[in-house]
Amino acid sequence: MPTQESLEQEARRILLANDRGGFTIPTAGLYPFQWLWDAGFTALGWMQFDEGRAWQELKTLFRGQWENGMLPHIVFHRPEPTYFPGPERWGVAHIPPTSAITQPPVVATFVRWMLEQAQNQALAEAEAKSLYPHILAYHRWFKRERDPDNTGLVTVLHPWETGADNSPAWDQALARVAVDPALPPYTRRDTAHVDPSQRPHQAEYDRFLTLLEVYKRAGFDQLRLLCECPFRVASLLIDCVLHRANRDLLWLSQRLGFDHQAEIAGWLEASQQGIEGLWDEEAGLYFNRDLVSGEPIQVGVSASFLPLYAGTASPERAERLLHTLQGWASQVRYLVPSTDPQSPYFEPQRYWRGPVWAVVNYLIALGFREYGHEQIAERIRQDTLELARRAGFSEYYHPLTGQGLGGRAFSWTAAIYLVWSRATSAAHSAL
Ligand code: DGY
Repeated sequence: MPTQESLEQEARRILLANDRGGFTIPTAGLYPFQWLWDAGFTALGWMQFDEGRAWQELKTLFRGQWENGMLPHIVFHRPEPTYFPGPERWGVAHIPPTSAITQPPVVATFVRWMLEQAQNQALAEAEAKSLYPHILAYHRWFKRERDPDNTGLVTVLHPWETGADNSPAWDQALARVAVDPALPPYTRRDTAHVDPSQRPHQAEYDRFLTLLEVYKRAGFDQLRLLCECPFRVASLLIDCVLHRANRDLLWLSQRLGFDHQAEIAGWLEASQQGIEGLWDEEAGLYFNRDLVSGEPIQVGVSASFLPLYAGTASPERAERLLHTLQGWASQVRYLVPSTDPQSPYFEPQRYWRGPVWAVVNYLIALGFREYGHEQIAERIRQDTLELARRAGFSEYYHPLTGQGLGGRAFSWTAAIYLVWSRATSAAHSAL
């Protein structure tokens, strides 16, 4: 078994090897550009040994920000033939080219943590100050263009926005997307890098790409897409991450001497209610919601625990979530499977349909810890570290066998190892 020191060295080596000069690719071949939430987690990893480089990661990410404030989920800093769909398929006129959808908005929270923990406070303060207006513009975009009716829940227009691309939570909503008969032909590249049994099905891919054509036809007009897009869901991953990010933006606003507290507090009031409205008393879990049918999506997924990370749950609901997760723990060896292991949709090796993801574990553990459930938080941290010890820094892991799955030498898994390996608990103060 490798030692903690050798694993830390390996994790640092992965970040250095995946560094493309100011941005870090998730892994060579499969993901050769900069992804939004990957960049956030990776910055936390860089923070452990090169603070300047950590801030650079976020600055480079914001080169992709659109004029309307949207922060895209991929920034195509330079051409790379190993990935599809690349900039040509997205057809976005931006320099550098980008995708046209977003991803879980972790940045405000991670900027706060980086500022709180930085050795170099002068640098951290200057960087946080210069990022702040861009983050604010991003969060205003969410409110203005994805929740114009102030429901407290963001409308998500693509499974890729949730980060959990092929989660069974999206099956029904995605099935409603009729595959475009004129869909331009394409060759998937992901299955050339990773065993197809660990990746989304072809039927899902056809729909993922059909949605791109829908956006292009609408000229990427968000308000139009809120009515026309056949895929519309409320995603716990986006709403909970955004709620916490707004709490931290409010904190940054005060700390850095800006004056947007009242505006942000208004958003928080709405999203507190929006998220708590996703609670299911009988299941003891939060469910995503299909915004076309208006119905809850009754499948337990790892994001079902994220209202703890958001901080919206009551202590009673936190207890229920603990109980639910204990039930899951009796079915698998490693926490937290991305889908309820008792669900008929659970596939332990297929991407977001069952495997364990270190980054989601990080958010869930932090949430449990903040509600005083230290034991389960520590179990999640220990499971994550053991998976890395046994199977290296994989993209995701089999929750029963611990097998490493998906891409290898993966930046955000290495980053989480660096953040957690020396911690004495699942606190982010391990940074
Ligand atoms: C992919 O290509 O699998 C990505 O998750 C899209 O962002």
